[in-house]
Amino acid sequence: MSITIFAIETSCDETSAAVLKDNRILSNVISSQLFHTEYGGIVPELASRAHISAIDRIADAAISKSGLDINDINIVAATNGPGLIGSLLIGLNYAKSFSLASGKKFIGINHIESHLYSCYIGQENINFPFIALIVSGGHTILFLVNDYFSYKILGQTQDDAAGEAFDKVAKMLGLGYPGGPLIDKLAKNCNENFHTFPKSIIKENIYNFSFSGIKTSVLYYLRKNFSYSGNINQNEIPLNDICASFQKAVIAALTEKTILAAKSFGVKNIAVSGGVSANSRLREEFEKYRNEGYKVSFPKQEYSTDNAAMTGYTAYLYSKHSDRKKFESDLYKPAFARFDYKNF
Ligand code: KG4
Ligand code: ZN
Repeated sequence: MSITIFAIETSCDETSAAVLKDNRILSNVISSQLFHTEYGGIVPELASRAHISAIDRIADAAISKSGLDINDINIVAATNGPGLIGSLLIGLNYAKSFSLASGKKFIGINHIESHLYSCYIGQENINFPFIALIVSGGHTILFLVNDYFSYKILGQTQDDAAGEAFDKVAKMLGLGYPGGPLIDKLAKNCNENFHTFPKSIIKENIYNFSFSGIKTSVLYYLRKNFSYSGNINQNEIPLNDICASFQKAVIAALTEKTILAAKSFGVKNIAVSGGVSANSRLREEFEKYRNEGYKVSFPKQEYSTDNAAMTGYTAYLYSKHSDRKKFESDLYKPAFARFDYKNF
């Protein structure tokens, strides 16, 4: 029997709603809060308020775009964490209320888990095992995924997330927010060997990441060579080459550790997801490993950054491949800002 899923995602600064018929995305509407740019980063309280004013309109748009009716929905899904707590609460409570008022089943979806499956959106079944690299604004985690909902965390960032490093360096360089897409664009076809920003050395666990060192070395480079003290004149620095060189250092850490994990565990499938997976150079770099027999999957560009389609697809996988106990209890569980790795 086919199922219809209505999904909501508001973990950060995107208000998104989607409708799925089984594994097929019928609609995926996203409203991005571009106004944070003027503050150089996300202002949580303003993000929550913007979700409140957008959620009804986005939910309506997703349902009407899908061509279906509220009565056709069987399952309501929403991100329940991790994320900005105020933002999460808007979407989660909207979805719970929708579920209670309409008598539909509710399922809470872990945001990290939905990024993890976003590479396979639309697929009926997934090939296991695979190595998953999740690179977003809040997380950088390497997983071994053995089966549906069976994860082993191999490593994670010890300080900044990869996306956070992109955003902070972009801010230093006087670019806007979010910094990742801007650096990606400026770095295109520029000299990534212009300056060597050092890769971080991780002693305890080879699969852990650290990006604050690379970020700080950009700061020191700017201070030493351009007397940087907080304001930058972009015309006086080799902006594009700095972007390309910084990006190279981050991408090298991400690709090398992911491939090392794949080799060590004898796994040929790799899934790279989260906002930073939209990066064109990162995609190119992983592409090279296809020649060595690795199948590297990325989400479609529109599913790299936050979206409700991936939330809905993860709910679909739960409905198909789990014993559904989750559906009975999630309605009573609160949102969570932090990700409890031990229980994942
Ligand atoms: O997954 P996401 O939308 O939100 C979180 O869950 O955090 O990721 C947002 C992050 C931001 O840090 C943004 O700068 C980064 O993804 N990002 C990129 C690119 N597009 C988005 N980083 C590098 N290159 C890109 N093209
Ligand atoms: Zn995300």
